Amino acid sequence: MKTYKIAGLAGDGIGEEIMNEAVKVLKVLEERNPVQFEITQALFGGVAYFKTGQSFPEETKKICDEADAILKGTIGLTHAESQKIPVEERPERGALLPLRKRYNTYANFRPVYLPKSLAHFSPLKAEVVGEGIHILMIRELVGGLYFGKKERGVNAQGKRFVHELLEYDEDQIRQVQIVAFKEAMKRKKTLHNVQKNNVLLSSVLWNEILDEVHQDYPEVKVEHILVDAAATYLCLNPTQLDVMVMENMFGDILSDQAGGILGSLGLMPSACIGPDKAYYEPSHGSAPDIAGKNIANPYSMIGSVAMMLEMSFGMKQEADNLWKAMQEVFIQGYTTPDLSKFGGSAKQISTSAFGDKVVEELLKMPKV
Ligand code: IPM
Ligand code: MG
Repeated sequence: MKTYKIAGLAGDGIGEEIMNEAVKVLKVLEERNPVQFEITQALFGGVAYFKTGQSFPEETKKICDEADAILKGTIGLTHAESQKIPVEERPERGALLPLRKRYNTYANFRPVYLPKSLAHFSPLKAEVVGEGIHILMIRELVGGLYFGKKERGVNAQGKRFVHELLEYDEDQIRQVQIVAFKEAMKRKKTLHNVQKNNVLLSSVLWNEILDEVHQDYPEVKVEHILVDAAATYLCLNPTQLDVMVMENMFGDILSDQAGGILGSLGLMPSACIGPDKAYYEPSHGSAPDIAGKNIANPYSMIGSVAMMLEMSFGMKQEADNLWKAMQEVFIQGYTTPDLSKFGGSAKQISTSAFGDKVVEELLKMPKV
């Protein structure tokens, strides 16, 4: 019997509701497999700030340090609530970015996946979605503008100014590119390199290093694509994309657009992988407007559990079963009210009922 320690960081808004469904699924997985999950919930985000004065408290850091993997819900507050917190302690700057930095989770996997059976979720025409969308975006997660030096001031003319540095060293660039090439080798052996080398020097260095890394993976066909063109391509030809790699901010923006072409960020789980530790999180925010109503879809959260099973615990088959179980629930026409715009005929169920359905489907699958 294997035991895995999981730090659960439910966070703000809908975080707790969707975390409950993740825990429900993990309990069922324990019954089906010779594993035990020791889940310790810890405060993180705005909720942590209001209880302890810190959005990433020491106690939470300790629990994360000791865990085999971290499962995060969502963070973020309404504009009004966040005004009550000093800028540096707001959940994004005070908790999420420090979490990424602490464990150097440099490779962010954001699968953009929509099987043909769920094509109706997409705002794109059926012929564009074709046989389905199956992209893997790999976003660099601990460098670039989000972590560079920042300075604000007033210049000699009395005008307010800001400097925000886009910083990378070659090792940071190389390590995420290697991850992307390895994924490309497991899939269609094509890699879209998203960058902006017609303007940005950071992209020139990025491409130089990519050429070097490419030499170790000669079978992979590299397509260079400018980030602005990539935005268009995602809408027009999503089925022509497979693995994509890009720096932090490009990945932040394009992965939200990817959620848009699927129909919702509610369909975007993710994995953030570092050298020693990984954490898993839905790509969407905390949706404070619908928090506590039991209507948020837990797909991204449970999908993040599936990614954790595969990437941290080597349970690929059960991960696949979990994906299938979730899709089956959608195929049967069930959805939560937040996703209900997809077809008037959809049978609306609550967050927890959706989780129950996923469990029901999972239990129908042969044990591994
Ligand atoms: C994401 C989010 C975060 C980011 C925010 C909440 C800081 O948008 O994970 O994509 O910008 O990385
Ligand atoms: Mg984002």
